[in-house]
Amino acid sequence: ELSPIDKAKFVAAKKAAEYVEDGMRVGLGTGSTAAWLVRCLGEMVRDEGLRIQGVPTSTRTAQLAQEVGIKVVSLDEARWLDVTIDGADEFDRDLNLIKGGGGALLQEKIVATASDQMVVIADVGKEVETLGAFPLPVEVIPFGWQTTQALIEETLVSLDVLGRKSTLRMNNDSPFVTDEGNHILDLHLNRIGDARQMALVLNQMPGVVENGLFIDICDAVVVGFGDGRVEVRD
Ligand code: A5P
Repeated sequence: ELSPIDKAKFVAAKKAAEYVEDGMRVGLGTGSTAAWLVRCLGEMVRDEGLRIQGVPTSTRTAQLAQEVGIKVVSLDEARWLDVTIDGADEFDRDLNLIKGGGGALLQEKIVATASDQMVVIADVGKEVETLGAFPLPVEVIPFGWQTTQALIEETLVSLDVLGRKSTLRMNNDSPFVTDEGNHILDLHLNRIGDARQMALVLNQMPGVVENGLFIDICDAVVVGFGDGRVEVRD
């Protein structure tokens, strides 16, 4: 028996699997919600003979996809994708997102952008009025990361945010390292007044590789509820 939160994630994933048709190239997201989707697609491959090529957004997802029998190809092999289905840490009514809680934002953004459609799957607890309560992940090059952090914190003064603290994401006693060999700074902003501006400004800074704001990338959010209901926002 699933807990309400897992049930919400599961029903969202199950519904989103309907976006996947035979022959499609599918971007596979990262995180606990996306894992339900990958398992669900694996079942469709096994039981219904669904033929798809999956492009994973992390080594974790690549491993799971392989385990459940999905044909895994690289983004460069696929070149473009029909649809990417991924989780999110927050989404707002304009379908803008914060992602990267699992640390895979860079590959996730590249894959989602290469897709005709991006569909997000999320439990209703991820829905927000204004983005920013969830700390915004920013992927930075290890070289000079403290200088990059200081630059970011200085620049935040001129942006419409409530908080300005940032922390280096850790993995036990050492800095977290992404699939791409970078670090993550989590920005504790509380409220991002202008997410579009924030995304642009962050990506202009030397040392910043990518940020977790997904602006105008997501086409639909499949929202799951603990009682098994599903709603689609698009
Ligand atoms: C991974 O880097 C993130 O962008 C995930 O999509 C996000 O953290 C959602 O994860 P859960 O589905 O586990 O909440």
